[in-house]
Amino acid sequence: MIRPDQLPEWSAVARFAADRERWPTLRDLAADRPPRHRALRVEAAGLVVDTSRHRLTDAMFDALVALAAARALPAAIDGLLRGDVVNHTERRAALHTALRCPRDAVCRVDGENVVPEIHATLERLRDFATAVRAGRVLGHTGRPLRHVVHLGIGGSDLGPLMVVDALRPGCPDPLDVRFVSNVDATHLVEALRDLDPATTLFVVASKTFTTQETMTNAASARAWLVDALGSDAAVRAHFAAVSTNLAATATFGVAPERVFGFRDWVGGRYSLWSAIGLPIALAVGFERFEALLAGAHAMDRHFATAPLAQNAPVILGLLGVWYASFAGCATHAVIPYDQSLHRLPAWLQQLDMESNGKRVARDGQRVDWSTGPVVWGEPGTNGQHAFFQLLHQGTQIVPVDFIVAARSRTPLGRHHTLLLANCLAQSQALALGKTPVEARDEMLAAGVPSDEAARLAPYRAFPGDRPSTTIVTDTLSPQRLGALLALHEHRVFVQSVLWDINPFDQWGVELGKQMAGDLLPQLDSSEPPAGPVDPTTRALVEQLRAWRE
Ligand code: F6P
Repeated sequence: MIRPDQLPEWSAVARFAADRERWPTLRDLAADRPPRHRALRVEAAGLVVDTSRHRLTDAMFDALVALAAARALPAAIDGLLRGDVVNHTERRAALHTALRCPRDAVCRVDGENVVPEIHATLERLRDFATAVRAGRVLGHTGRPLRHVVHLGIGGSDLGPLMVVDALRPGCPDPLDVRFVSNVDATHLVEALRDLDPATTLFVVASKTFTTQETMTNAASARAWLVDALGSDAAVRAHFAAVSTNLAATATFGVAPERVFGFRDWVGGRYSLWSAIGLPIALAVGFERFEALLAGAHAMDRHFATAPLAQNAPVILGLLGVWYASFAGCATHAVIPYDQSLHRLPAWLQQLDMESNGKRVARDGQRVDWSTGPVVWGEPGTNGQHAFFQLLHQGTQIVPVDFIVAARSRTPLGRHHTLLLANCLAQSQALALGKTPVEARDEMLAAGVPSDEAARLAPYRAFPGDRPSTTIVTDTLSPQRLGALLALHEHRVFVQSVLWDINPFDQWGVELGKQMAGDLLPQLDSSEPPAGPVDPTTRALVEQLRAWRE
């Protein structure tokens, strides 16, 4: 297949990009001069995605859509959803969408319809989560399990943690669900500090069941439990596991009826929809987990069926490609105006950066175009009092995604109205800015002496023309959250297709893991470091060892 940058459609977009002087200003677009590009607002699965604040004309937007067509995006979407081996380096499908299919759907992997197995696991999850929430699952000493400590990292942590925090507000909360991911013992020790082992359930979540951090935490948790309850037999009553590696869960001592499996065609960062979502069902109830899946499925249907130019994940993906590969924007900010979404940026970082942080195309050759951006963010309004200065007046252009719901799930006085006003005001301020003349006139009107107004005007002016997308919904229900997450999953996929990279592997995490393994003996032993370490590492090892002794 022709490399993306060899396509005439890529060159057409590049020509628009080079002609910066002719990009419409956001003030002009607000005044409908020239007419705005067509994909102003698109509605999908209960979300309204407003993309009117990007400096694109119809012609520019059409050029991006033409590029998507030239990259055979519709066929790629079909292949993804059909279970084709889209992860070519690991020779696997990437079928996270199958996990949210209704019971009567058919989705084949190697000729086998995987939907019945998915629903059988969901039923087991439902039964277990419901029984634990109801206090019917007893620990080793006969007391009901009331605390859950979820042990996992990366996709086995970020997704379920983010969803639990997002859905907790306003939910009946019979269980205390906590998450431990870091191999730094502080994380586990602090999480266990006030817990009673007799009423604590551990969920060990690891696709591979070999991840160093998770297995270290699981071993320490096991020791804490056995030590307190005085018997190895307690493990069966106090541990559950979620993994594709059933042999390893058995070796650890997890009772088979407490093991929930999934298949290797579910990528780690796409796994919250699988049994990895067990803590979601435990924390907020299985019905809400099911509703989350249904919301994601609604977005899957939209992605599968909407024409490219009206397809929300496609539009967002095209904008992502525009900014990263053509407009020179190295970062992308995500600002949820919703405190419960405070871990959404962290989940998105893994989703986007582990998927599209690649530099080798599907043909094995280095890419000659920029791929995935650095993704970052914090909830609004907090970010406004921290890094928004740079967004408004810095030298870099950072495209921003604003996310907000019309209704609060925890209404209190005017709080939500203030939140909404701030969200809308920020995207408007970024877009329209304030000219030096406007800044000066405003100061003069406020009685500032004219020489002072002239002196301060350059500092108090805002360049504007800073792009953003606003995603709004009615309320952050489980359905809407599911749709929002699937929207981003598909956006990331769209970008990978345009960039011709495999978003489903993550070889880039391996080297550091391997070197950490090599360094362990040197940090443990009393001998001087030996082996393939560079002088900097050697010196640091020696310093650390000196202090540890
Ligand atoms: O090191 C990265 C990674 O492999 C992620 O892709 C994955 O989500 C995480 O580690 C955890 O892996 P596991 O679920 O196998 O413990």
